[in-house]
Amino acid sequence: MAWTGQCPDCREWNTLVEQAAPRAARKAAPAKGNGRSLPPGEPGRPVRLREVRAASVERLSTGIGELDRVLGGGVVPGSLVLLGGSPGIGKSTLTGMALANLQADGNRTLYVSAEESAAQVRMRAERLGEAALDVSVLAESSLETVLGTIDSERPAVCVIDSIQTMHSSDLSGAPGSVGQVREAANALAELAKRLDVAVILVGHVTKEGSLAGPRVLEHLVDCVLRFEGERERTWRTLRAVKNRFGATSEVGVFEMRSGGLTEVLDPSARFVEEATGAQGSVVLASMEGTRPVLVEVQALVSPSELEVPRRVVNGIDRNRLSMILAVLARHARLGLGSADVFVNVVGGVRVDEPGADLAVALAVVSAQRGEPLVGADGRPVACFGELGLTGDLRYVAHADRRVAEASKFGLAPVIGPRGGERLSGLSPCATARQALKVAFSGSRAGRDAEAA
Ligand code: TYD
Ligand code: MG
Repeated sequence: MAWTGQCPDCREWNTLVEQAAPRAARKAAPAKGNGRSLPPGEPGRPVRLREVRAASVERLSTGIGELDRVLGGGVVPGSLVLLGGSPGIGKSTLTGMALANLQADGNRTLYVSAEESAAQVRMRAERLGEAALDVSVLAESSLETVLGTIDSERPAVCVIDSIQTMHSSDLSGAPGSVGQVREAANALAELAKRLDVAVILVGHVTKEGSLAGPRVLEHLVDCVLRFEGERERTWRTLRAVKNRFGATSEVGVFEMRSGGLTEVLDPSARFVEEATGAQGSVVLASMEGTRPVLVEVQALVSPSELEVPRRVVNGIDRNRLSMILAVLARHARLGLGSADVFVNVVGGVRVDEPGADLAVALAVVSAQRGEPLVGADGRPVACFGELGLTGDLRYVAHADRRVAEASKFGLAPVIGPRGGERLSGLSPCATARQALKVAFSGSRAGRDAEAA
């Protein structure tokens, strides 16, 4: 366009203002071929990955080591985290504590409570200590007001407690409905990215463990954390089921006390302390992410009055138990077809790894025989290993760390699979049957380990 200083119509100078010309409307694509014949637009410019500038993400520490670890090293600015858990598990407590620490560290924080009044939030904060009272609270459930407040306050980290109780007056659905939750999460995500505010969405899960409201939330957020445990017990585990900025294998362990949640830095000590060495109890040397943890697995076998006997599990997968019982039936001649079988991982812990198979098998056999599983020194037996359908005991990762952890608590030798390196605290067994023999022969277990 030529430079024009004078208006050709009114002859005035400097009255012209530049305006973007409307783009020529695209010709409508022919109806056939599902629009695949759309005309190509201006080409983009692909870049070699080597040349892509990836700024290293700085992270904000929540001051809670276990939470930071599960997040992959702290909260990433501008990220969206979904913290799911059943009511009463401690979501508000955990997020309240994190904000208190962040605020004390000099970050602006905002706690949006759509469930409790500001006074109720204050009462909880009082239990958490002085620093928690410095966090700003907004008791509000209107999405528009919350967005406006975030925009004007510009906190570094903001908690929305809970996403299911947010609602937008633009939409007709009730709070908690799919449309409302999605709209609220979308709007918050957009704002968070734009203003570089880290947003932690608190979400309720149903009793079955799925997030109430749409699964679509899980796609939208960068990180999904699950806070689990039994309400009546004090143990809580925090794990990442999705994390764009870190591993999903890390697990944090907490205990609910009168002054909030305390980190359990050495969970093995607590679990082993509680392990009884009674019938149907065995210690599993499991891996929680990159950390070995000893947990107690218990089983109860009792005659069933039902046509289809009960299989009740807590902390392990139900199908896994069925498989283990089938292997025991076939390879250890242990028929439990007319017995109810209950398996429980003590403390409300979940073990989601094949390495737990042997522990479940040993606990069930011990319960069925009414024989306790104790070593020569009267201490509980520790074990790990995956059961194959052929009755073999299979190698699982990190055997060395599992054995080392059990040794640390005086539970060596550990019954486990062969393979990998030779470990001094390990009683290696090739099959489930062999493992059973070793496990029930107390003192012989020690000799086998030495002979190996
Ligand atoms: P809360 O964080 O409100 O759970 P959620 O937000 O997941 O529903 O806390 C739940 C329980 O924790 C509540 O029953 C009281 C208990 N609690 C403690 O035992 N100690 C404490 O210091 C706090 C703050 C709560
Ligand atoms: Mg709450």
